[in-house]
Amino acid sequence: MPEAYIRGVQDFYGRDYIVTPDVLIPRPETEQIIDMVLSLAGKSYLPGVKAPKKQLPDNPIILDVGTGSGCIAITIKKELRDAKVYASDISENALQIAQKNATKHSASINFIISHLLDNVKFTPDVIVANLPYVDEDWNWLNKESLSYEPRIALYAEDHGLALIKELVKQTADRQTKYLILESDPCQHQEIIEYTKKAGFRHAKTRGYILLFVRP
Ligand SMILES: C[S@@+](CC[C@H](N)C(=O)[O-])C[C@H]1O[C@@H](n2cnc3c(N)ncnc32)[C@H](O)[C@@H]1O
Repeated sequence: MPEAYIRGVQDFYGRDYIVTPDVLIPRPETEQIIDMVLSLAGKSYLPGVKAPKKQLPDNPIILDVGTGSGCIAITIKKELRDAKVYASDISENALQIAQKNATKHSASINFIISHLLDNVKFTPDVIVANLPYVDEDWNWLNKESLSYEPRIALYAEDHGLALIKELVKQTADRQTKYLILESDPCQHQEIIEYTKKAGFRHAKTRGYILLFVRP
């Protein structure tokens, strides 16, 4: 069993999050989602580096889709106090853990149970999502080590892209300006082409993370 489940906690962006086998163990590559959001908000996330130009409005509305332990949503709220942060997941068990983490970190988050954006009745300024993107057929997978984490948090159909594509399609019908997605770099080109058809411009790639802007 992964050490994080034995200890019951995992560090993410300098804070400890409660983790159980109901949620994915937060990964270091996901931390770059936070850096991208802070950049959009005009905050420097590296000491000594000049703050970038602010692109988000005051009190931005930010939605984390597929929140799992809540690590992304809670970190955003802690680092960007004026943001109104929402977090959604299809798993009720995951949302219970996310709620515990929000309480642990005194972060005010609005939780929504939903398949992607189905129950989201507002238009966020930014949507961030680390959705399941693993393709079960990838021959480099260490299935034994992944077997402890929830399948619903890891795997997706259509070479791992089914949920990401569905989210992009749902987002295309809204006025959300920024979309930040995590996926394996081998999937990036296909996602970039798909989001272009949905009206987004690919603005940046950092490791596993893609930033899209609606022109
Ligand atoms: C890769 S995990 C990410 C968890 C957390 N955001 C993180 O970065 O550590 C994906 C999350 O998406 C959720 N999920 C899976 N299918 C979903 C769907 N159709 N709609 C919303 N959330 C979904 C899973 O329950 C899981 O918590």
